Amino acid sequence: MNVPTSTPSPTLQDSAFLKSLRCESAPHTPVWFMRQAGRYMPEYRALRAGKSMLACIRTPELAAEITLQPVKAMPLDAAILFNDILTPLPVMGLNLDFVGGVGPQISNPISSVADVDRLGVPAAAETMPYTAESIRLLMPELNARGLPLIGFVGAPFTLASYAIEGKGSRNYEKTKRFMYAEPAAWQRLMEKFETLLADYLTEQVKAGASAVQIFDSWVGALSVYDYRTFVKPATGRLIAKVKKLGVPVIYFGTGATHLMPDMASLGSDCMGADWRLPLDEARKLILPAQAIQGNLDPLLLQAPWRELKYQTDRILAEAGGKAGHIFNVGHGLLPGTDPDMVLRLTEYVHEQTRRG
Ligand code: CP3
Repeated sequence: MNVPTSTPSPTLQDSAFLKSLRCESAPHTPVWFMRQAGRYMPEYRALRAGKSMLACIRTPELAAEITLQPVKAMPLDAAILFNDILTPLPVMGLNLDFVGGVGPQISNPISSVADVDRLGVPAAAETMPYTAESIRLLMPELNARGLPLIGFVGAPFTLASYAIEGKGSRNYEKTKRFMYAEPAAWQRLMEKFETLLADYLTEQVKAGASAVQIFDSWVGALSVYDYRTFVKPATGRLIAKVKKLGVPVIYFGTGATHLMPDMASLGSDCMGADWRLPLDEARKLILPAQAIQGNLDPLLLQAPWRELKYQTDRILAEAGGKAGHIFNVGHGLLPGTDPDMVLRLTEYVHEQTRRG
């Protein structure tokens, strides 16, 4: 009997993004942007008007809608959950607020060993249920579009820098002073973050995230020695735990070229590269089996198209048509970006890299 063989419908696992994370050849180079949902989009500004950042994050309907805004406006290859790396700080006991025009502010930052020991490490499912709920709300729409969802957390060092400084910082003076003066408490702090972040990512993956990114945005402030001594062990344990969830892990830092080999050695599936090094040179610093994500300077989206196109061509040439490249900016999209340029760039990368 002749049984008709049905062609399997394309699954998320066949998406250009997930294939590239596995270093398999993809139909085109996938594109997504850090901060692809944000103030540069008029629809984001309209939805956010009169609502606080944390209220949006904690209201699944709003978080889901904001997550979808960029993927509705552009043919992006992945969605990233609307959330913030600082969301876990309040559940640990730190009073966080996003102050318009100023950025995140913590009114009771860590300043002593007792403060570290007072920090809670509650279960993410109980204290941040809105995150899994936002993901569950998003799943039908994303599945219909064949789009993977990226879950994320901040890395232990980057979160510690906010927890101790109480805000963004240039030199991380309080953070480093605490790290050097109280190495045992510092390690306990790293372990608390490691535990909570692994649990939070587990919840995100259980709810439907197909990949996760760990943002170590400010780790580049550390010397290689300090990274190895104070940060690498807990971050390595976090990555090892998350890898067991069975989804690809992207590890990203900025201004951290000097740390790339050490960061890569923690074994994530993909390394995020900022714009400072050419992509082919960054690739030499990571493991052969790792994919690479990046690395357009986000300010180039505010340059004339000819310069943006030229530098995009340059990055694609540096990627060399090899499997395992995900196109992205080298740091988040900036508020002054023209959404039309983001759309044009997304389409351009797809056109230039379409295979077969
Ligand atoms: O990428 C996405 O579209 C998902 C959303 C996302 C946000 N924050 C939303 C956000 C992601 C991935 C982040 C990560 C994040 N948050 C990082 C790591 C990435 C990076 O940029 O290095 C860091 C360091 C933060 C902390 C943070 N959140 C800062 C310093 C600020 C204030 C600065 C600013 O841009 O306003 C935020 C606020 C924030 N998080 C905004 C958005 C869209 C802007 C707030 C607003 O809309 O008023």
